[in-house]
Amino acid sequence: MASIKTLVQSKDLKSLPSDFAHFKDAQESIQTGPDVPVPVIDFSLLSSTNPDERAKVILDLGKACEEWGFFLVVNHGIPENLISALFNACNEFFDMPEEDKLQFDNKHPLYPVMVRSGTIDGNDSNQQVKLWRDYLRFFVHPEYHCPTKPKEMSDIVLEYSRRTRDLARKLLRGISQSLGLEEDYIEKAMELDSSTQIFAANYYPPCPQPELAIGIPPHTDPGLLTFLLQNGVEGLEIQNKGKWLHLTGIPGAIFVNTADQLEIISNGKYKSVWHRAVLNNKKTRFSLVVANGPSPDTIVTPAPPLLCETPPAYGQMKYMEYVQLQRSSRLNQKPTLEQLK
Ligand code: SIN
Ligand code: FE2
Repeated sequence: MASIKTLVQSKDLKSLPSDFAHFKDAQESIQTGPDVPVPVIDFSLLSSTNPDERAKVILDLGKACEEWGFFLVVNHGIPENLISALFNACNEFFDMPEEDKLQFDNKHPLYPVMVRSGTIDGNDSNQQVKLWRDYLRFFVHPEYHCPTKPKEMSDIVLEYSRRTRDLARKLLRGISQSLGLEEDYIEKAMELDSSTQIFAANYYPPCPQPELAIGIPPHTDPGLLTFLLQNGVEGLEIQNKGKWLHLTGIPGAIFVNTADQLEIISNGKYKSVWHRAVLNNKKTRFSLVVANGPSPDTIVTPAPPLLCETPPAYGQMKYMEYVQLQRSSRLNQKPTLEQLK
């Protein structure tokens, strides 16, 4: 189908086309609590030479994972100009004619490049309601894939992926310690040298009836830690104590959420958080996501040192099989983690 961006540009839409009606009425979507500031982690303190400062940030990191599953990272060291170049390159990508974008779509069994509009994922034959979102998604590690147009995109994404892998590894060292494990426990168990890293750009144009449609329906992420940048327009919501909370960002900060494999390795102490993307009728929202997971072949299990007093709450599965199971079960709305219990 044509992109949502083209649909919005080509027609003066006053109401939502019926195939995008995710909610029956506005009441159904309005379950949100107030805008909330999630915990803020100062990344630079993880390498502080002051042991008290380091201990405090590790404690804060553990609390953020346990109580929220979401936090903002400031002082992450990723240069501002790299981030703005990344937004520009992705913006240019979405500006290209449909046929130019679609030439990059491929069906590699493990590492596809996907250019989609309105659908949840590659496997969308059962999908009834369209999503108000255009997206581009591809694997950047252990194999690197990237569209070759716009021409500067590949170098920029490569650099961003290298830096975010480093950030993920260092955050996971702190998280490992916050669980009482050796600092390098998670990176070894998850074989991070060949970690799976996926890059995605989500483009949500203004929607004529945002309360009836959805950008991304509720889901948890399959990996370990997901990083999200947005263009200053809010729209990310998380489920917390049964309510949908609208998250407020901080310019330049990165949203981080705990994902399914972190819930498994922590034996359920750190919950993979349910989240969704909602829309607005004024501004285009743009989010850039990096999903950091274990190596494709890692068999993930709860960490044995955490099982002294509690039995394992999850079975084991190879990570790439888990990702494939999640892709097919999304259509049935069955949470993949439940299937491992
Ligand atoms: C995602 O969950 O992949 C993205 C959510 C967002 O765009 O806020
Ligand atoms: Fe997500």
